[in-house]
Amino acid sequence: ARHGVGIRPAYHFLPAKNWQNDPNGPMYHNGVYHLFYQYNPLGATWGAGNLSWGHSISRDLVNWAALDTALDPTAPFDNNGCWSGSATILPGSIPALMYTGRIDAGKEVQVQNVAFPKNPADPLLREWVKPAYNPVIPLPADVPGDNFRDPTTAWVGRDGLWRIAVAAKVGGPNGIASTLIYRSKDFRHWKRNALPLYTSRAAGMVECPDLFPVAEPGVEEGRLGYASGPASGAVRHVLKLSVMNTTQDYYAVGRYDDVVDTFVPEVDAERNADDCRTWRRFDYGHVYASKSFFDSSKNRRVLWAWANESDSQDNDIARGWSGVQTVPRKVWLDEDGKQVRQWPIEEIETLRSKRVVGLLGAQVNAGGVNKIIGVGAQADVEAIFEIPSLEEAETFQPNWLLDPQKLCEENGASVPGRVGPFGLLVMASSNMQEHTAIFFRVFRHNQKYKVLMCTDLTRSTGRDNMYKPSYGGFVDIDIEQQGRTISLRTLIDHSVVESFGGGGRTCITARVYPEHAENKNSHVFVFNNGTGLVKVSKLEAWRLAMASVNVVHGHFSLK
Ligand code: FRU
Repeated sequence: ARHGVGIRPAYHFLPAKNWQNDPNGPMYHNGVYHLFYQYNPLGATWGAGNLSWGHSISRDLVNWAALDTALDPTAPFDNNGCWSGSATILPGSIPALMYTGRIDAGKEVQVQNVAFPKNPADPLLREWVKPAYNPVIPLPADVPGDNFRDPTTAWVGRDGLWRIAVAAKVGGPNGIASTLIYRSKDFRHWKRNALPLYTSRAAGMVECPDLFPVAEPGVEEGRLGYASGPASGAVRHVLKLSVMNTTQDYYAVGRYDDVVDTFVPEVDAERNADDCRTWRRFDYGHVYASKSFFDSSKNRRVLWAWANESDSQDNDIARGWSGVQTVPRKVWLDEDGKQVRQWPIEEIETLRSKRVVGLLGAQVNAGGVNKIIGVGAQADVEAIFEIPSLEEAETFQPNWLLDPQKLCEENGASVPGRVGPFGLLVMASSNMQEHTAIFFRVFRHNQKYKVLMCTDLTRSTGRDNMYKPSYGGFVDIDIEQQGRTISLRTLIDHSVVESFGGGGRTCITARVYPEHAENKNSHVFVFNNGTGLVKVSKLEAWRLAMASVNVVHGHFSLK
């Protein structure tokens, strides 16, 4: 039963079969969305040397049609793998893909290549050609062979030159994690800038950089953006880096200087600008190698991230697939100017079918559990909790600041508290033996309150020897200013539990493998395991329909 269809997501992006990792080259071009991804056509495991770019297209970012792979490791400059990269739309509406070619030259060498549509008039851009003049950026002399990869989308500076950023370790085997800038007039001849965009001595190798402008409150996102011209219109930018040795993505809001091409992070006192592992995270669960693009059709930035499996490799192989993308998320700068917020793109709501209204205005007393009937394993749940009992909150210890995950590990959903834990139990079996808990705890901190959000997987499956962590992040809001309320939205998709706390300020994505998933009896409950009263001021849940994701269901067409 464990290998059955019960855990295959119904609306998260994944190929029909085989291995997927990083999202690559997302773009909107001539009315069609394209998503490429790291894909192993030979099976459900990674296989460094086999990686191709899978390619899918969509009109709504929800329903996807699979095309043939766009890039395969067939050329002398990529014969050992077509690794991650990005898309840029050049003048004349010509898209270009920049990607890392991995060359087997006795030892591993990584270079950057470019590819163009074979026929730019093909509305689906089915075939891609790699010019023979590749690589456009060879391995620099001061970078060890296997540490040079993942070019970003390009942007134009005030001097009219293109720029891209590439991750590299500079200066020998113990070199410095760097994000290098290359400039070009023609997208073919690239020259390295003397200064890196950013370096982090402590971080080891970083991967998959993403740099994007963010609009100050009141400024329209569409006026920024690499898609529509120079990035200099933005006052501030976000830099995201994927850190190999923690396998987590970190971001900071900061100032990008488009003359010298450097990024200066602006971080809170408890974080360290020079150590990107102390920055904020797009997701406090387990996702990696995120990538965003500017969606010019809706003037918004959209982000995806790879959520890998945490079941055994044997089970991945038995199922024939491995790895999903988060739902596409709209990303924007919060009014506080310090953090970004993320929210599932509105198109996800087209999947909402049966609406189940649960506990409007109900109270959940200490130890209380209330069941919301009939939601199932494919659902969208939105809740607002009101906390009249705030004054009862326990005192926060300052040394907890940088390790919210540890706080969640030590204080799971079953550990009683004062204000919290309260929240949702999802993917719960009828007898509640299996469930995943998403909850909040509130602490008193410097005359204010500090909100912790956790996703606790310790009871997520009855299976032994599974990875069942507790994930955690703080929700950076002033809960009193929010009318003593906090919101939670959770998207449930068989083996994905993707949660957005505090209006998308803190996101936690988890992969779960419940045994009961093979039958259809998955439930959602509201719970409160704190002594303080919690009111449910809003709770709405929808069953979600299955999307067409790279396999044909019903009548999906691109028309
Ligand atoms: C990140 C990464 C990238 C690389 C790709 C290879 O997950 O390691 O740095 O380009 O995956 O699949």
